[in-house]
Parts: sequence; structure tokens; C-alpha cells
Amino acid sequence: QSWSVTPETQGKGIYPHYMLKEIHEQPGVVRNLLAGLLEKTDGHLKINLPERVSRKLHKARRILIIACGTSFHAGLFGKYLLESIGLVSVSVEVASEFRYRHPVVDPERDLAILITQSGETADTLSCLRLLKELGVPQIVLTNVEGSTAVREADDAMFLLAGPELGVASTKAFLAQIVYMMFFALELGLKKPHPEHSNAHIYSILDEFFRIPALMEETLNLSPSIRDLVKPFTHLPSTLFLGRGRDYPLALEGALKLKEISYIHAEGYPSGELKHGPLALVSDSMPVFALVSGSELLPKILGNLKEVHSRSGIIISIAPASLKGALTDVVNHQILLPPVGDFFLPLLSTIVLQFISYHMADLKGFDVDRPRNLAKSVTVE
Ligand code: G6P
Repeated sequence: QSWSVTPETQGKGIYPHYMLKEIHEQPGVVRNLLAGLLEKTDGHLKINLPERVSRKLHKARRILIIACGTSFHAGLFGKYLLESIGLVSVSVEVASEFRYRHPVVDPERDLAILITQSGETADTLSCLRLLKELGVPQIVLTNVEGSTAVREADDAMFLLAGPELGVASTKAFLAQIVYMMFFALELGLKKPHPEHSNAHIYSILDEFFRIPALMEETLNLSPSIRDLVKPFTHLPSTLFLGRGRDYPLALEGALKLKEISYIHAEGYPSGELKHGPLALVSDSMPVFALVSGSELLPKILGNLKEVHSRSGIIISIAPASLKGALTDVVNHQILLPPVGDFFLPLLSTIVLQFISYHMADLKGFDVDRPRNLAKSVTVE
């Protein structure tokens, strides 16, 4: 299955920037992926992965995920799900580190998943070649069918996100995290676990069909997010907090903001606040906090109280059901439509993208072509 470039997918359409257009295309990307990855016949759900890919996933005793930039964050997100639901050990590596690290691998037990939107990132390609030499099976997750990564890897899976032209990756990231979800659920089905029985996994798969509509609802938050972030655009520094699988999203939120608005931004696991970042907190540093209703909620609220009591400005990104719990702890709330905890990242990612898009646009920067950056880094 591929995405054909039509006049609609080529231009900016009604949007002032490719990035904004690509953010809005995300519900369609998820629909595309679901059409290919999830089969429903007579009420029966089946994850549709190519036989070779699913065999490799099930055989792996350790998964090595290798990527750069935004794709690296998708890999980190994947680690949380693959370990908790897929019950497989995962290590995630930045490609430019892995290739020079003399890694210890085991071709019999390891599987490498290389995530690259373009399929052309020099460091990721070097890792692919190194892994081939070492005999480690590979799967490339990419958006570009004719790319070098696809030609060289044993197996490739496609993000089906359509051409991504904004330098800051949006819809490809979302598609990457959807794949991480599917890989974890596929593994989980063969490794039932008290917290993730097959019945539970099938209920998650069934809920997937509702997600594109909830993403569309989340897109409607755009104008209110623009108004909310306006007063912060002149501030020099921001912090993004998240715990568990929200931590990689916090890293990605911070990366997006620095890439296009040139505001210093750091992503941190909330539990690390006391080990440094708390020293930075003041009434001139907005703190964007991802909050979910997981078992970590009391811990997250505790972390946020620490920021609050030091006059930090906290903007929470959380499902509407947590409104009451957050009222006394945060300054502003961005409320997401009610959704199962598993799917929250697909909605909070959209909010993070809007935060960076609007801050950069309000500052008058060229959102699609940030200074000093390239869409695809084909040299070291
Ligand atoms: C560049 C782009 C990022 C991208 C990264 C990795 O830095 O600006 O948006 O995440 O490369 O690219 P890849 O194509 O390998 O995912």
C-alpha cells in the first residue's frame, strides 16, 4: 500500500504552512494505517503484519531500536510499550552513538528496528549496514518507499503518512508511535499477562477505530492553544515534563519547540525534577506537563506541586477527566477528549505540535524551514 501524490497532498491547501497541514492530516494517517494493519471480519479482529515481520518480532529476545531526532523519540516511546505489553527487552539508541560504540549484539536473539522517516539519514543507514554485517535481522520503519533504507534492509514497513515537507516531523512521528503500539500489541497477544490479557488487547484494538475521530476533536483545540501560549513567546526557556511513556513525548515536545521557535526547551522525566531542573523553575519559565490517569498520577501531582510552590507556571495536558485533580496544582489546563489511557499519546502529541507551531508562528518564524536544519541529514 502506498500514498500517491495528488495536487491536494502536494500543496499547502488551505493552510499557511506545511507543518499545520501535516498536523491536520494525522487522523487520515491513522485511518490509512488501520486499514492496512487491522482486519475486522465478522467481529473478529486480527493484526495484519507481514508474516516475515511478525515471525521476527516473536523470535526476538531483545529488540534494538535505532534512530535519530524525532524518530529516536518514537523509538523511546516504543520501548515503554514493547516492554510492558510485549514483554521483550528493548534498548533504544541514537544512531550516531550506536555506530561508533562497538555494540555487543547476538544475531540469534536480537532484532533491530531502524526508524527513519526519510530512509536516508546517514547515521541510521550506517547502523543498518553495520547490523547487516553482524548478521542481526533488521526491520526498517520508513515513510519513503524508494529510499536507500528500504533497498538495503531485510524488511521494511511503511508509515503511510504521505509526503512530509515541514522540516519538523509531525505526521511521520505519529505514524511511528502507532507502529510501536501495533508491534507491542502483536507481541502481547502471544504473551498473555495479568495486566494485558488477550481480551484486554482485543478491546484496545477495537477502540483504535474511534481514535481518528478523537484526534479530529483534538485538532479543534488549535485556536485556544494559540491564545494560551501567546504570553509565553517572549520567554527564553521552557520545560516539558512527562513520566513513563509520556517522557519520550516530553522530549519530543521540547525538540519541536526548539527546532522551530528557537526557544530553549528541555524535556525531563518528572521524577528527575529534584535532581536539577527544579533550580530553574521561576515565574518566567512555562512548564508543560503531560498528565495521564495512570498509576503514576499521585507521583505526577506531587512533582507538579513542587513546581507550583516555587511559582512555576504550569500548563497541563491531560484528559478532561483529570480536570478536578489538577485545578489547585496548575495554572492552565489543556483538556483532551475522553479516551482510554493507552491512546492518550495520540492526542497529546497533537497538542505538543500545536504548542510549538503557534509559538513559532506568533514569533514570525518560517515554521516549515527552520534555520540551520535540514529535513533529511544525509551526511554525518
Ligand atoms: C532531521 C529532521 C528531523 C528527523 C531527523 C531524523 O533532523 O529535521 O525531523 O526526525 O532528521 O530523520 P529520519 O528521516 O531518519 O527520521
